[in-house]
Amino acid sequence: MAGVKGRVVVITGAGGGLGRQHAKLFAQQGARVVVNDLGGNRDGSGFGSDMADAVVSEITDAGGEAVANYDDVSTVDGGQRAVAAALDAFGQVDIVVNNAGILRDKSFHKMTPEQWDAVLKVHLYGAFNVTRAAWPHLRAQQFGRVVVTTSTSGLFGNFGQANYGAAKMGMVGLINTLAVEGARFNITANAVAPLADTRMTADVIPDDARMDLDPAYASPIVVHLCSEECTDTGVITLASGGHYARIAYMQAVGVQFDHVPSVEEIGVAWDEIMDLTDSAMGRNPLA
Ligand code: NAI
Repeated sequence: MAGVKGRVVVITGAGGGLGRQHAKLFAQQGARVVVNDLGGNRDGSGFGSDMADAVVSEITDAGGEAVANYDDVSTVDGGQRAVAAALDAFGQVDIVVNNAGILRDKSFHKMTPEQWDAVLKVHLYGAFNVTRAAWPHLRAQQFGRVVVTTSTSGLFGNFGQANYGAAKMGMVGLINTLAVEGARFNITANAVAPLADTRMTADVIPDDARMDLDPAYASPIVVHLCSEECTDTGVITLASGGHYARIAYMQAVGVQFDHVPSVEEIGVAWDEIMDLTDSAMGRNPLA
């Protein structure tokens, strides 16, 4: 099995939490790793090189290959430098795991444009910036794996996370199109929605659930999605502790009118439009 052996992976936000676990597992599996992390606080403030350096040391001490990169992925230049770090150190880039993230939770009626922007910048623009920098290389070599880290907060909604949820769903929209555009270049793009005990969830996970939500649980599915053998694309998977499951959008059988219906006719048909019995995976009718 080729797996990810010899591949070069850029993992954003890999200085702690989930990203650190991903980095260690990729390295154990024989990949060469760029550990990107700007070393800030949970809300995105601050900067430091210690977090990324510590993960690189863990990997190299264990006999793996890794280099640190401290760039801010929310900027175009930062995304380019994170990928340049892979090219400089290892001469190629094969895999991008977009994992960097921050929180600025507020109920919607109190959310400021600054809180909205800050969260979209790191998650959604971050994924764009790093993936965009890697994309020409993935296309040219006819191989690439892109993973984004989405969230059930975006997929299903969560109080106080309009900014975060919008960013996380934006990333799903991103991989949906990357899956289409990457197909003929052997590039896949998938999303993982983890649930893990990290500093990000420190105040929301009950103490008795922590043991079961070790962030290490999320890494095997990320590595699998990036392996040569896995050619699935445009897929969303839950990785909630040890529970792994596909998440998909379903389209109901619905109702077909042969004329522009009146508002009243929509009202009459409403239950049938809503009914998910016999629903199937949704798809773009124009694709
Ligand atoms: P974390 O806070 O430990 O990790 C996020 C990392 O991203 C930090 O090390 C941080 O320094 C880094 N980072 C933040 N902004 C950055 C930037 N602009 N450039 C480079 N690095 C930056 O939190 P955790 O839980 O490990 O989160 C990882 C990802 O998983 C995030 O995208 C998060 O939204 C997502 N996620 C986590 C869940 C959980 O249960 N822990 C649930 C759903 C999604």
